[in-house]
Amino acid sequence: MRVLVVGSGAREHALCWRLAQEATEVACTPGNAGIAQQFETLGVKAGDSSGIEALVRRSGFDLVVVGPEQPLIDGLVDHLQSAGIAVFGPDADAAKLEGSKKFAKEKMHQAGVPTAEFGVFTDPEEALEFARSRFDAGLGVAVKASGNALGKGVIVCHQLDEAEDAIGMMLVEHELGAAGATIVVEDRLAGREFSLLTVCSGTHFRSLPVAQDYKRALDGDRGPNTGGMGSFAPASWVSSDLIARTETEVVAPMLELMAQQGTPFRGVLFSGIMVQDSQPYCLEYNVRMGDPETQSVVRLLGTGLLPAMTSVAHGSNQIPAIETQTGAAVSVVIASPGYPGKIETGLPIQIGPMPEGIEVFHAGTDGADGRWVTQGGRVLTISAHAPNPEDARRLAYAGVSEVHFPGMQYRRDIGA
Ligand code: AMP
Ligand code: GLY
Repeated sequence: MRVLVVGSGAREHALCWRLAQEATEVACTPGNAGIAQQFETLGVKAGDSSGIEALVRRSGFDLVVVGPEQPLIDGLVDHLQSAGIAVFGPDADAAKLEGSKKFAKEKMHQAGVPTAEFGVFTDPEEALEFARSRFDAGLGVAVKASGNALGKGVIVCHQLDEAEDAIGMMLVEHELGAAGATIVVEDRLAGREFSLLTVCSGTHFRSLPVAQDYKRALDGDRGPNTGGMGSFAPASWVSSDLIARTETEVVAPMLELMAQQGTPFRGVLFSGIMVQDSQPYCLEYNVRMGDPETQSVVRLLGTGLLPAMTSVAHGSNQIPAIETQTGAAVSVVIASPGYPGKIETGLPIQIGPMPEGIEVFHAGTDGADGRWVTQGGRVLTISAHAPNPEDARRLAYAGVSEVHFPGMQYRRDIGA
C-alpha cells in the first residue's frame, strides 16, 4: 500500500510517521523540510487539486489522506473521488461542518446535539441586541465568525462591551473578511474541554483515544489563543461513560443526520467538547484530525489506522478495529518568538540527541539535519510516549531541553 499524505504541518508529520508503520511507502505533499528527512515530499500545494490528481496518476498512490481543513472545505476530496482516486476525508458538503459555524450549529440543533443556545447574524445591531439579552439573563456569550478564520474567529466575552467589540470587529470593521461576514453568537459555557477524534464512514464510527489540547500561548491558560501549544492523551479525567455519552449524543446523531440528508460524513470527525454540570456540550466540529492532538494520539495507536482509513476511503461500512497501546503521550509545541503575533524566521535551531520514546514532528522548519532554521510560528512538536502520564510529561520536557534557538517559546505545563 502506497500512501500520499496532503499537508505540511506537524500533524501531517505525525500521520506519516504512524502510517509508515503499516504502509509500504508514505510520501507527503507539499510536506516540509523535517518531513523530507524521513519521507519523500512532492512539492504540490494542498490547494492544488489538479496538481495532486496528476501526482497520484503519475506515481500510482493507493490512498490519499488529507490533513488540513481548507482543502477539504474547498472540495479536494470531491475532485479526487470523481477522478476515481481513493481518498480519506470528507467531501465539501460534509466538510461544511467545519467550514461554516452557522451550518454546524443549525445541524446540531436539528440533530438534537447538546450545544450552547445561539443566534446567527449578519446585522451588527441584531447581534448586539441578542448578546445584550443574554447578559441581561446573567449569562455571557462567545462571538464566532461563521467561516474559517484560522483560529482567530472565536472571542469568548465576559462583559457586554467585549461582545460589542467582537461584533464590531467582525460585522462592521470586517477584520476577518468573508469568514466574519456572518457570525454566531452563543451562550458562554464553562467547564473542562476535551477533543474526541472519531473515524467515521457514514453512520459507522470508531473513536481514537481521547485527547486534550492547550490553545492559549502562556502557562496557566493565559495569553492569546494560538493554533495549539501542546496536547496529551488519553485525557484520563474523561471517563468511559463520558466518552460513551459523547458518542451517543454528539457523534452518532450528527452522522445519522448527515447520512439522512444525502451528505454522509466519511473521514475523521473531531468533536470539541466542553463538560458543564457533567453534560458534554459540543462547542464545534472539525472535519479532520486535530493539531496538536494528532501528535499525541498517534503515539497511542497500534496497527489498524491504515486499514481503517482505506476502508472508509472505499466507502465500506465496516471500519476495522484500531489497536491502542497502553501508556500516555504528551506533546509540547515549540514556537517562534512573537507567536501567535508577528514572528521572526531564519533563526538557527540546534536539535540534540533525543531520549528514547521521543518523536520530533516538524512544522515550521527549513534546512536539514545539523543546519535547521525556523520558518514558521509553530516550529516543532516534541512528542513523548511513556508508561504513565507523569513519565510522559518528564520525557517530553527532557526532549524539549535538547532544542535550542533564540527566543524559543513553549508552555511548561503541558500534561501537568
Ligand atoms: P472553537 O474554535 O470553537 O474551538 O473555540 C475556541 C475555544 O473557544 C474553545 O476551545 C473554547 O475554549 C472557547 N469557546 C468556544 N465556544 C465557547 C462557548 N460557547 N463557551 C465558552 N468557551 C467557548
Ligand atoms: N487543536 C484544535 C484544532 O486542531 O482545531
